[in-house]
Amino acid sequence: MAAPIPILVPQIPALARSMAPGQTLEPTPYCQEPEDRTPAQTEGPYFKPNSPQRDTLTGAGTRLVVSGYVFNLACQPIANALLDFWQADNNGNYDNVGYTFRGHQFTNAQGQYRLTTIVPGLYPGRTRHIHVKVQAPGRPVLTTQLYFPGEPRNNTDTIYDPRLLMTISSSGGQRQGAFDFVLNIAGGPTGGPTGTAQPTTWRPNVLYQVGQTVVYQNVTYRCALTHTSRVGWEPPRVPTLWTRVG
Ligand SMILES: [Fe+2]
Repeated sequence: MAAPIPILVPQIPALARSMAPGQTLEPTPYCQEPEDRTPAQTEGPYFKPNSPQRDTLTGAGTRLVVSGYVFNLACQPIANALLDFWQADNNGNYDNVGYTFRGHQFTNAQGQYRLTTIVPGLYPGRTRHIHVKVQAPGRPVLTTQLYFPGEPRNNTDTIYDPRLLMTISSSGGQRQGAFDFVLNIAGGPTGGPTGTAQPTTWRPNVLYQVGQTVVYQNVTYRCALTHTSRVGWEPPRVPTLWTRVG
């Protein structure tokens, strides 16, 4: 019997994934059904706010690159979506003093993210997992976890959810993980990436949400912290609130 044909939705970029020989391409999610939304999971005790913006988390361990898309319910990729990852190190310990194996990034204009990290170690009571918070610009935060297939503890961990399994392949001593998030956000009528509207000119007394972009004196900035703007907080003056992007 022939292998199933991957389901491709119009206006969605082909999922560029490195696949091991013999593996079939993970179908693009349908997105439209409520059960296709990425389920939420407990945050756990080790989240720390204000992680550094970076897509590479360095330390000893087996190299792991996790990549994918953030979609809305119409399977449209979401640009500038925030992804804040945190995980245990190779020995199963969280850095609760500093920010080792913690970092946030934003999806690109195609709605893609890419995290370079290591395979997290195991710690008592849990199977292997990576924590993440995902947020489209100005929308609610999804807190969840990603899991690894073939882990013996997946069978005994009461938090584990198979809907959150990554597709994992190995090549050259490193692992490639793939996972697409589907957020509970209705799709736009026109298709194409959402959240890519032309940035507006910065103004005081506006509630800016994390991930939103503005232009100030011909320079584009991305909001790093949700806040109401005011005179004196112009983007170049408050790098805590605004990250220069262009
Ligand atoms: Fe954890």
